[in-house]
Amino acid sequence: MTAEAGETVGLAPANPGVIDSAEPSANPLRDPRDRRIPRVAGPCVLVMFGVTGDLARKKLMPAVYDLANRGLLPPGFSLVGYARRDWADEDFAQLTYESVKEHARTPFRENVWEQLSEGVRFVQGDFDDDAAFDRLAQTVRLLDAERGTGGNYAFYLSIPPKFFPVVVQQLKRSGLSSPTWERARAPWRRVVIEKPFGHDLASARELNATLDGVFPPESVFRIDHYLGKETVQNILALRFANEMYEPIWNRSYIDHVQITMAEDIGIGGRAGYYDGIGAARDVIQNHLLQLLALTAMEEPVAFDADSLRTEKQKVLSAVRLPADLSLGTARGQYAAGWQGGIPVPGYLQEDGIPADSRTETYAALRLGVDTRRWAGVPFYLRAGKRLPRRMTEIAMMFQRAPHLPFAATDTKELGQNALVIRIQPDEGITVRFGSKVPGTAMEVRDVNMDFAYGESFTESSPEAYERLLLDVLIGDPPLFPRQQEVELGWRILDPVENFWAEHTKPEQYAAGSAGPPSADAMMARDGRAWRRL
Ligand code: BG6
Repeated sequence: MTAEAGETVGLAPANPGVIDSAEPSANPLRDPRDRRIPRVAGPCVLVMFGVTGDLARKKLMPAVYDLANRGLLPPGFSLVGYARRDWADEDFAQLTYESVKEHARTPFRENVWEQLSEGVRFVQGDFDDDAAFDRLAQTVRLLDAERGTGGNYAFYLSIPPKFFPVVVQQLKRSGLSSPTWERARAPWRRVVIEKPFGHDLASARELNATLDGVFPPESVFRIDHYLGKETVQNILALRFANEMYEPIWNRSYIDHVQITMAEDIGIGGRAGYYDGIGAARDVIQNHLLQLLALTAMEEPVAFDADSLRTEKQKVLSAVRLPADLSLGTARGQYAAGWQGGIPVPGYLQEDGIPADSRTETYAALRLGVDTRRWAGVPFYLRAGKRLPRRMTEIAMMFQRAPHLPFAATDTKELGQNALVIRIQPDEGITVRFGSKVPGTAMEVRDVNMDFAYGESFTESSPEAYERLLLDVLIGDPPLFPRQQEVELGWRILDPVENFWAEHTKPEQYAAGSAGPPSADAMMARDGRAWRRL
């Protein structure tokens, strides 16, 4: 199996509209039943708001290029940037060129770039500028005529959420959001939004109401980029394409689950976004709860969007918070310290952070999942910045053997069996178990068995944004959380945030350390310990 094939491991039957554009029968050597034909986007325009932001430069534009380079975009594909800067098309094309050169995953090829850049346009304007939105409408219509983009538009809102309402209203006012039927077929319109989807349940609902008034639910694509990661999709393959894990994937064998998202970086230049948000809202409400849902859910009847999201939703609605939040949660804020041999400032000394900020940069929670499969099995979630290294993993920690017919000294070095899904950066899966140490004594010690993507597959994994952008352009929704999932995430987190707001201040931890001592104490109270970072 190649990595390319891995890309489509059972996720969602291809959208019927897609197969048309993918032209499965074009290659006579290809088995027509093979649905793994490259999923190619049909004619369309991608309109990007917030093109000067970090996300657009570092992830989105390179992902567009990588898709083009892999032959997954149609020849007439066009990219329109919308921003305040007084730019001509060429300036935006230059920005795109630079970001592609610097951040694209695949090699730079002049001919691919040339073809892509022919469809690059720029519209200058503020978000509340009627005339500019009218110009935008004109621009995309011209592209339809010149490049055959067929009236299909995706609007990517890579902008702070406070601007969503005005942009969405402008899309409506200018007629951009509503397609007109042509020859018995309506072109499509899709809107893509990035997290944060609100900062609590109430604001998430408000945001949804804004979108709902303009776009039908199936046209709204909420990006949680973790779901675009190859290793995250592989959780589904691991669990549901194999026989050997299912029998032990439950409370009878699993002692607890640890889900960790550690980052070595600080908040960088993102003070404006991060302060007041903090680690739990930033990544636990979305990424970590999605990982929990994929780990704990039942098998969906199929991998279509509805079935998959329904199973995730069931799990999220069964999540239970600790009875005493002071004992079952922990939070911290990084203080000055050392990272990779370099002294780094504490959170409160970062540019733009108020000296009395109580925003956490580390959060840990113990959650229960009240289902027959998981009753009594704690799921420990932790996420933090300025930890010793970048590492995201899901560790299924097994119960100890009920009886060890060895002398106590023989198994001194034997820990708990574990199955660890290494999401990043060293993508793969580790199984840890006890093995006899060679020699005359019966000494048993932990060893690892490893699967590494780099060793098993020749092709490197696409970036999460490549996969997700392509899915948007194709109209394939399984990897995008629905509003109900977003709301369930806030239902879980809101009580914790409220508790923290009233009761505790984040505990300081030195940059480069493994987090605040209260997080270790939380585990120790349960007779457990975090895996080493
Ligand atoms: C984002 C968060 O969603 O994920 C950032 O807002 C975080 O704070 C980032 O740094 C991490 O993404 P990744 O893919 O590097 O794990």
